[in-house]
Amino acid sequence: MEQSNSVNKPSGYSFIAKTLHWGFVAIFAYGIYKQVDTIEQLEDAALLRFEVIFAAVFLTLLLLRFFYMTRTQSSSLPESTAWWQKLAAKVVHYGIYVSFGSIAASGILIGVLYSLGVKAGFVIEAIVGLHEISVTLSYYLIALHVLAAIYHRFLKDGVWSAMVPVWKED
Ligand code: HEM
Ligand code: HEM
Repeated sequence: MEQSNSVNKPSGYSFIAKTLHWGFVAIFAYGIYKQVDTIEQLEDAALLRFEVIFAAVFLTLLLLRFFYMTRTQSSSLPESTAWWQKLAAKVVHYGIYVSFGSIAASGILIGVLYSLGVKAGFVIEAIVGLHEISVTLSYYLIALHVLAAIYHRFLKDGVWSAMVPVWKED
């Protein structure tokens, strides 16, 4: 992702990197669509089990993605990009990983506590609070990320086309 000693061509991401990127867009959208609306819904044991398994798979894939991206890929930002823009991209990319990890980990914790009978009180409320803050943070970061991608599409510096398969630059 952000390494300069990339083993890949600087001109683009690998097929695996693109599959992980767009696959996660789909998995995350599904997670949002399936979201728990009230904590009482977790009384449904099948739903609770499904949510926890989903979050565990999500977290595992996220870790695999993180290690794959940081070890084998590098950002397609041109060398000449301003230092603060490179830093902003890093903060947003890492922030997305952190918020996604926090959503899944806090979700798993909610599920475990709930199944152990901790259904109300300060501890579970604090973890649900963390879960919701992480969701909100991820929305802001993704919005910034997509705006930045569109900005780069107009700059025509190759960043957009390195990851996005449509509306390619010339
Ligand atoms: C759920 C939505 C999304 C998430 C979580 C996400 C996350 C990320 C992350 C973490 C990276 C850094 C590379 C990596 O570690 O995989 C990245 C790269 C990129 N994403 Fe997204 N992305 C999302 C949606 C989009 C959308 C909708 C677009 C464009 C319309 C987009 C365009 C790009 C581009 C152009 C790059 C390459 C940036 C570079 O080379 O530095 N992403 N994305
Ligand atoms: C990657 C997996 C998950 C995603 C993407 C996700 C997503 C969401 C979203 C979008 C919300 C609404 C936040 C808001 O309105 O501010 C939410 C709330 C919540 N989620 Fe998750 N969640 C995940 C895993 C889990 C798990 C495993 C559990 C527990 C078994 C869980 C339990 C809850 C609870 C209790 C709420 C709060 C409901 C309320 O407002 O009372 N989530 N989640």
